[in-house]
Amino acid sequence: MTADIRNWVHIGTLEDIPREGARCVKNGDMTIAIFRTAKDDVFALEDKCPHKNGPLSQGIVHDGCVTCPLHNWVISLETGAAQGADEGRTAAFPVRLEDGRILIDLSYSHEAV
Ligand code: FES
Repeated sequence: MTADIRNWVHIGTLEDIPREGARCVKNGDMTIAIFRTAKDDVFALEDKCPHKNGPLSQGIVHDGCVTCPLHNWVISLETGAAQGADEGRTAAFPVRLEDGRILIDLSYSHEAV
């Protein structure tokens, strides 16, 4: 049996986030963007593009990705990895939905590289 060492934190409800949009939450010095897709899937990434720190929360959400508003890099919502020929990754956090409540695991991230 393995212990659940995750640190799930309730950060709001699905209705707090517009479809294909994002809302930000603070975690210490870090800003985390919570994204909602057209299919009501929810993802959490540090609000910092791996290119030049553009605010991903202000980007366009589409096809499991967000396009950065500054120079149009496309970032995977699931992994935080830049797509196509671009290289880099922003921190991604596990998210789960419970009866419309959004919980994110702040103890864990796919670290930026
Ligand atoms: S800062 Fe995001 S594409 Fe340049």
